[in-house]
Amino acid sequence: MGKIILGDQLMERSVIGIDLEDRGYQFGDGVYEVIRVYEGKLFTMKEHIGRLYQSAKKIKITIPLAPEQMMDLVEKLVAENKVYDGSVYMQVTRGAAPRTHMFPTPESKTKPVFTAYTNEVARPGNLMKHGVKAVTAEDIRWLRCDIKSLNLLPNVLAKQEAAEAGCYEAILHRSGTVTEGSSSNVYIVNRGEVRTHPANHFILNGITRQELQKLCIENSIPFVERAFTLEDLFQADEVFITSTTSEIMPIVEIDGKTVGNGTPGQMVRMLQTLFEQRIIAESKAHM
Ligand SMILES: Cc1ncc(COP(=O)(O)O)c(C=O)c1O
Repeated sequence: MGKIILGDQLMERSVIGIDLEDRGYQFGDGVYEVIRVYEGKLFTMKEHIGRLYQSAKKIKITIPLAPEQMMDLVEKLVAENKVYDGSVYMQVTRGAAPRTHMFPTPESKTKPVFTAYTNEVARPGNLMKHGVKAVTAEDIRWLRCDIKSLNLLPNVLAKQEAAEAGCYEAILHRSGTVTEGSSSNVYIVNRGEVRTHPANHFILNGITRQELQKLCIENSIPFVERAFTLEDLFQADEVFITSTTSEIMPIVEIDGKTVGNGTPGQMVRMLQTLFEQRIIAESKAHM
């Protein structure tokens, strides 16, 4: 896609040069977000940008733009690049400074670097209809998974394990307690109740998770935030994951074992329908 954002300006992608000593590049010292675009409209942008500021604050980065200014820029970026179904990737790093672990001093005048670009990404319609396979993997991440940090090495390794097993996602667990997916939140369904890990430092509180929670409350579907075990996972009536790009994705097989009857269950299909209505409603509200 043609244009990108650097700092507070839109510019040609070909122009950008990243400093070799950018702390995002060397230390993963930064935070990021991915926002979905449906039919040219940004979905839950305010929530994503809100989380970007929260993540930055948690690692003591002050973003040098006001949220309103950032939203404005991102909207312009999507319009200029004529994104239809796609996504915006955005990140803020602590900036470029001579390499040393501690933060740059105020005297160095190092400024955080904000960048964003867009991609055209088709919705995973077929996968959402038929469901996907997953593997389980030990969650070897740090204890601040609530921060959407650039440090994704454990997530990358887990996703690669899944890919090598011909699977879509790795479901992570800490000594048998399921936390979340390598890039998604995880849910089990039993007797009409949706259950997921509480939103604490062990997981990222997904924006899709928050939307799903609202949908469940609005539709009187029990939404329980209580951790569950691998045993619970294998015995569940239904299992699904959520994320910005995967939306609400049924899991039909885990570690080679069938979930339920091996096809997407009634609850996940209902939640997909409700989510679809939410997307349409939000896009109408933006017209
Ligand atoms: C570790 C992790 N958990 C959960 C999610 C889901 O978050 P969201 O619904 O905001 O995309 C993601 C998304 O990338 C993630 O990386």
